[in-house]
Amino acid sequence: MATLTSTTAANTAFSVRFDGLSRSFPVEKKRGRAASTTDVATPAWGERTVLRDIDLTIAPGEVVAILGTSGCGKSTLLRIAGGLDTASTGDAFIGDQPVAGTDGRTAIGFQEPRLLPWRSVTDNVAIGLPPGTDKKAGAERVATLIDLVGLGEFAGHRPREISGGMAQRTSLARALARNPGVLLLDEPFGALDALTRLKMQDLLLDIHRAAPTTVLLVTHDVDEALQLADRVILLGREDGRDGSTIVETLTVPGERPRDRGSADLAELRGRLLDGLGIDRHTRR
Ligand SMILES: Nc1ncnc2c1ncn2[C@@H]1O[C@H](COP(=O)(O)OP(=O)(O)OP(=O)(O)O)[C@@H](O)[C@H]1O
Ligand SMILES: [Mg+2]
Repeated sequence: MATLTSTTAANTAFSVRFDGLSRSFPVEKKRGRAASTTDVATPAWGERTVLRDIDLTIAPGEVVAILGTSGCGKSTLLRIAGGLDTASTGDAFIGDQPVAGTDGRTAIGFQEPRLLPWRSVTDNVAIGLPPGTDKKAGAERVATLIDLVGLGEFAGHRPREISGGMAQRTSLARALARNPGVLLLDEPFGALDALTRLKMQDLLLDIHRAAPTTVLLVTHDVDEALQLADRVILLGREDGRDGSTIVETLTVPGERPRDRGSADLAELRGRLLDGLGIDRHTRR
């Protein structure tokens, strides 16, 4: 089987930094009943703060997992890092440069696969190749990545002919095709069955070993975060304040791959589940 290193040119990993970053969205305020039928409603707009005062520096080559309850702003933070959304205040940086739109050094794996329906798996993955890639080297890299995500037999299929989990793996391969310096992954394994999920986690570790890119990984899965990340960031609300901020930063001990049953990880797992507000009796 082809190995990743055989087609992976050395990439340069870049730091990712959020500096006093906040994001608010406009919301239409609920208004009371109109005073009369002639009271023409002019919409009243307010703001809802989703992210507040995020300060975080991710070193080149570091893997950081972001955990938080649904709707707390994880995807928003990732989108800002990827130049697809902008902060209301504060800044995001890739290396020393403020993020100002999408960046060739960065690849994004979205929460949903976002494949082009009329293109094959191969052609969808090839979209991720850096512009100007040599045709033969590009085709080899695409084929290798498709093999690595276990879709060799489906290379010629269209998105509607593959399952949701396969589509998600295709999307991961497309992000990796860029050989990015910064890899932003939004729940990349969310739609996968437990076994494929573990395989894909191992694949991500292999890829990171072969080409140590900076990884910002959003996940709902505490064990996945503890298995993959150097540090785990928990986003949440502080009492009485609007918007999510970093409420916990944990450094995960031990070389990867880690022993899933270790006592150290069990302790961190408990702290993260507490932080997520998961009652002890509902835990697995
Ligand atoms: N463009 C937008 N306009 C208005 N509100 C938005 C916009 N984008 C995100 N939001 C709001 O920001 C909040 C955070 O959304 P986000 O998608 O970042 O959450 P999340 O933590 O990724 O959730 P999940 O775990 O369910 O994916 C949500 O309440 C969402 O409605
Ligand atoms: Mg999300």
